[in-house]
Amino acid sequence: MAQQQFIPKKYNSTIDSGKVSWESPSNIALIKYWGKKKDQIPENPSISFTLKNCKTITTVSFSKKETQAYFSFEVFLDGEKKDDFKPKIETFFERVEVYLPFLRAYHFKIETENTFPHSSGIASSASGMSALALCLMSIEKQLIEANNALGAVERPFNEAYFNQKASFLARLGSGSACRSIEGDLIVWGKTKQIEGSSDLFGVKYPYKVHGNFKDFQDTILLVDKGEKQVSSTVGHNLMHNHPYAKNRFRQAHDNFETLKPILESGNLKAFIQLMESEALTLHAMMMTSMPYFILMKPNTLEIINKIWKFRQKTNLHIGFTLDAGANVHILYPKNETAKILEFIKNELVAHCQNGHYICDQIGFGARLIKNE
Ligand code: PMV
Repeated sequence: MAQQQFIPKKYNSTIDSGKVSWESPSNIALIKYWGKKKDQIPENPSISFTLKNCKTITTVSFSKKETQAYFSFEVFLDGEKKDDFKPKIETFFERVEVYLPFLRAYHFKIETENTFPHSSGIASSASGMSALALCLMSIEKQLIEANNALGAVERPFNEAYFNQKASFLARLGSGSACRSIEGDLIVWGKTKQIEGSSDLFGVKYPYKVHGNFKDFQDTILLVDKGEKQVSSTVGHNLMHNHPYAKNRFRQAHDNFETLKPILESGNLKAFIQLMESEALTLHAMMMTSMPYFILMKPNTLEIINKIWKFRQKTNLHIGFTLDAGANVHILYPKNETAKILEFIKNELVAHCQNGHYICDQIGFGARLIKNE
């Protein structure tokens, strides 16, 4: 299906004002997205667990304005005006305007807050962009329903279409954000391994998943809370002309073939092996790009080595993954929580900045809070 399906028929901005709120979670990739083409099309497919506790809560208030000559909006984080967020949102509005024709008709007040500290090194772009996309979708839904009530002819606005378009829009804000709308396992990027997969939006993983993966825990160790030295936009671009890019992209497809029977059979050992290999491959791509860079810190490696030793000693199913940063996500099944959390507290927290870590777990997607 092409992106044309997300361009609505013409409708009028018949509503004068309103307010919508959504909360949307972060997600953690198991097979990583790294490298993109024009218009936020991924170079390879990825799959993630949606998280539960790390989320963004966004309220968008809208009021009709006189002129449609420009976008008009203001942004607040934790009640404080954030003009430095505006360029990213302006670019997002430009990209999605063709799909949301009401954007120039209103002034928007965007108020946002995260359940995790802003400067925690946890990317807020996935939860933030998906929450904003969902708010805009709720406004479009209100407008289309108002138009339909007056006898217009837009398609019925069912939940599947709503979620798909929200994911499509979120992707245009930040690629991985398209995997945050629903849960618990979301695939993004066309691959013949996954029926229904698309480069344009995330889809629910459509095959059998063993009970072992149903209540996975993710304890996030905050190793370095500072700004990343290299943004993910720059990192993605460095995959162009990267000497290993072609093999890496092929490997991501192949890893879906490996992952499918693992998810079906509940093979935790093989799952951990694949997940850790993906994390280290992501960082290997960074180290072998030109210019090269390293986002892991000495404490990242300390933690990884301790996890490996602990796993060997106890045979518990503890594994790690990394995003484009120094923080370590520790994944494990819920029934092993007591021993693993004790190990984390006793041995790993010392390697976190100010001893900070976040306990999260698999979640099931975004939630509408207010629609008025
Ligand atoms: O969505 P972006 O452009 O911030 O890219 C995120 C990429 C990784 O987090 C490193 C991997 C992934 O698939 O989430």
